[in-house]
Amino acid sequence: MNNIRNFCIIAHIDHGKSTLADRFLELTHAVEQRKMRAQYLDQMDLEREKGITIKLQPVKMHYQNYELNLIDTPGHVDFTYEVSRSLAAVEGALLIIDATQGVQAQTIANLYLALEQGLEIIPVLNKIDLPAADIEKASQQVIDLLGCKKEDILLVSAKTGQGVDKVLEAVIYRIPAPTVMTGNILPETPMNEIPLRAMIFDSIFDEYKGVVAYVRVFAGEVKTDDELYLIGVAAETTATEVGNFLPVMSKENKLSAGQIGYIATSLKNLEYCKVGDTITLKKQGTTNPAQEYKELALPGFKEVKSMVFAGIFCKEGSDFAHLRESLGKLKLTDAALMYEPESSSALGFGFRCGFLGLLHLEIITERLKREYGLDLIVTVPSVAYKIKNAEEEFIIIHSPQELPNAAGVVAIEEPWAKVDIVTPKEYLGKIMQLVTDKRGVHKNTEFFTEQDVILHFELPLSSILVDFYDKLKSVTKGYATLNYEMLGYRPADVERLDILVAEEPVEALATIVYRDESYRAGKKIVERLKDILPRQMFEVKIQAVLGYQASGKNKGGKIIASARIPAMRKDVTAKLYGGDVTRKKKLLEKQKKGKKKMKAMGKMDIPQEAYLAVLKR
Ligand code: GTP
Repeated sequence: MNNIRNFCIIAHIDHGKSTLADRFLELTHAVEQRKMRAQYLDQMDLEREKGITIKLQPVKMHYQNYELNLIDTPGHVDFTYEVSRSLAAVEGALLIIDATQGVQAQTIANLYLALEQGLEIIPVLNKIDLPAADIEKASQQVIDLLGCKKEDILLVSAKTGQGVDKVLEAVIYRIPAPTVMTGNILPETPMNEIPLRAMIFDSIFDEYKGVVAYVRVFAGEVKTDDELYLIGVAAETTATEVGNFLPVMSKENKLSAGQIGYIATSLKNLEYCKVGDTITLKKQGTTNPAQEYKELALPGFKEVKSMVFAGIFCKEGSDFAHLRESLGKLKLTDAALMYEPESSSALGFGFRCGFLGLLHLEIITERLKREYGLDLIVTVPSVAYKIKNAEEEFIIIHSPQELPNAAGVVAIEEPWAKVDIVTPKEYLGKIMQLVTDKRGVHKNTEFFTEQDVILHFELPLSSILVDFYDKLKSVTKGYATLNYEMLGYRPADVERLDILVAEEPVEALATIVYRDESYRAGKKIVERLKDILPRQMFEVKIQAVLGYQASGKNKGGKIIASARIPAMRKDVTAKLYGGDVTRKKKLLEKQKKGKKKMKAMGKMDIPQEAYLAVLKR
């Protein structure tokens, strides 16, 4: 136990985490030279291409007679909960900072998480080989942030390998060995009699091994064929194999307290193997299992919820079965993905999907396109609203179509997020303006160096969804970074905006808008449709309507914007030469009547492009 060190890496995207991990693998000979390729731990194609880490890949290395377990963590806001569980699985963290960029919001957010867990932090400035590296400035930021000494900061180049050995030495000498949790067990109890307490920090579905839990063992030990109990989800299973990450999974006789490894289970479904849950051994003859197991549960388990929703449809209706199957397969590897069938008169059959955030949405849609060859339509992402109805019940809705019109709704609430923005101070004013425009509230500002500030805001999640990040980047010339986490639901002054085409409501075009923005939103959609809808033989009215009711006392609703697409006019008078005006008039009159009749019967077929112009991301 004393020669085990468990650690992880905290870094902002692109600061060099994967490259540094590659150097560790080389230095410790964890991967044979000929098998080594850049960014070894980023195993998905999408990860290599985008240069981001999506899936955690732990690795066990040997260095100077020590067992070093590294958990690579994803550096993006959507995965905060996963990151927090990875941090809970280790005793120390490397804080990697790109010396050309300095400290960024994501780094600070994850650093706070690490400090909350009481981890030993080792600050590392990377990319010192680059001429643009400003070691003085970045060091000062780190000192201000951590209150550490200058000599505590390690200087490395993950690219050239300079200083990397010093990092591994710091891991050995600065990070404490894991301590064993014994709870209220007597000190002389043999290890194999201490109840197993293993925390799941990730889980995957492996084609050969089935559902595999990545665990940190805090107490006791686990062997192949042990009968297991998952406390949080109250499920039983068997350990079909246990082992280490070298970094490929390799079988071991057992995993003991202090170690990081995997437990392959006989579970069929990832949903039973939740990040943060505790695995223990099934007890024989328990009288009150819930109570007895509860004592062993490690703290911090929570169920992650989808925060962002979007419809996913196929361009070709015949691909629907393939889409369903593909989502099913993705779900096997990604328990956080939610989906349920949805049909839209506009886009056909598809699915309403729930994601952890925007990056998660992007990853899933990219994977569907690349790995499954699907041609997709993805609708504008939205948040879930909480609706209080006349019976004082709360229901959660995931799409505008589900929002009942005014009558049945007492109150509506929307999710809010806590947003931290790190920026050079000269952009402070512009960011304040942007946040105010987006209905955000400024909480406070901290100067963490003379030049840089951390701004704390609260904003409706829906404001962040669409173009907040792009706008932030543009007003700060790319210097600001952002991190957000969920706060919960708050009252929202929103209403449903319906779009009528040829007097018929078009379900798929309904949206939820803020009351004071509804006119602007309505006008925008109406104008966009006017440009894109093809002309018909009759005049077509496009209307944006608030409080639309199909029947009853308030039939119709309040029209807030409208446009007309004039009819195609066939020149019925073309054959008439000369000046018989009355005859010409008669003919036009006849045409008008005919059109009226056509309009009465005519149902407007809306082409898919028109929907897309309004609905697509
Ligand atoms: P995520 O996986 O998105 O979290 O990124 P990352 O932190 O793993 O960054 P990655 O290792 O992919 O490095 C980002 C880029 O910086 C790559 O192009 C690397 O080649 C480059 N890079 C990393 N370390 C160094 C370094 O020490 N010097 C130089 N010059 N470039 C480096």
